[in-house]
Parts: sequence; C-alpha cells; structure tokens
Amino acid sequence: MYSEKVMDHFQHPRNVGEIENASGVGTVGNAKCGDIMRIYLDIDDNGIIKDCKFKTFGCGAAVATSSMATEMVMGKSIQEALQVTNKAVMEALDGLPPVKVHCSLLAEEAIHAALWDYAEKHGIKIEGLKKPK
Ligand code: FES
Ligand code: FES
Repeated sequence: MYSEKVMDHFQHPRNVGEIENASGVGTVGNAKCGDIMRIYLDIDDNGIIKDCKFKTFGCGAAVATSSMATEMVMGKSIQEALQVTNKAVMEALDGLPPVKVHCSLLAEEAIHAALWDYAEKHGIKIEGLKKPK
C-alpha cells in the first residue's frame, strides 16, 4: 500500500522537533481528520531557510510527507519553498494511497502558515502567499 520511500520517512522521520526562537511557526489542523501539524522555520537575513523542523499529531502519511517536505524546503529561498506543494512532496515519495492525500496537505499548509508568521513578524509581504485559514 505504501511506497518504500513513505515507509522509510515514516520509520525514520527527518527533522522532528522544535526550533527555539524560530523565524516563523505555523500550526494547522486538518479539516478532514482533525489532526494537527506544527512547522518551525529558521530563515536567515538573505531569506534562505536554514532549518526546518516539524511536530505532528498525525498519521503515518502525515509523518512521512512532513519529513520529506522539511528536507525539500531546507536551504531554499522563500519563493522556492512555496513550490514545495503537497503534490511535489507526494511525487518525491513515489505517491500515496488516495485516502491519504489529505494528510499531505498538512505540511504544505503548515509551511505556508510559518512563512506567513515570518512575514508578519518582519513586516514584509511574500508574493504568492495566502493568509492561512
Ligand atoms: Fe489521523 Fe487517524 S485520523 S491518524
Ligand atoms: Fe490525519 Fe493522516 S489521517 S493526517
């Protein structure tokens, strides 16, 4: 049912934890299952994501997609991080079963929420970023 990559990221999730004094923190809930995800971003003065960590009250698919998403945004610019959609993450994991697609939205939404938090704290506007729900 799950690809080898999904199982790998589920069993050995990357970048689990918190960042103290993070540049941006985003917490979102999944409307479909009620699960929760929090993403911490550390962004340097050049707008490069230096570190990214996550915590979730989610299922295995949420763990695996968040783990992959944190790896994908690491070292990227803010604009590049906006391209890390749930579709891109699922592709990088060789797919997810259809009933688990909603789980992959948590990471994307939490990254966006963390970027929004960062932008608000710095009084800037990030092009293409919508206010989190
Ligand atoms: Fe999320 Fe069951 S509803 S793990
Ligand atoms: Fe809730 Fe997967 S069932 S995140």
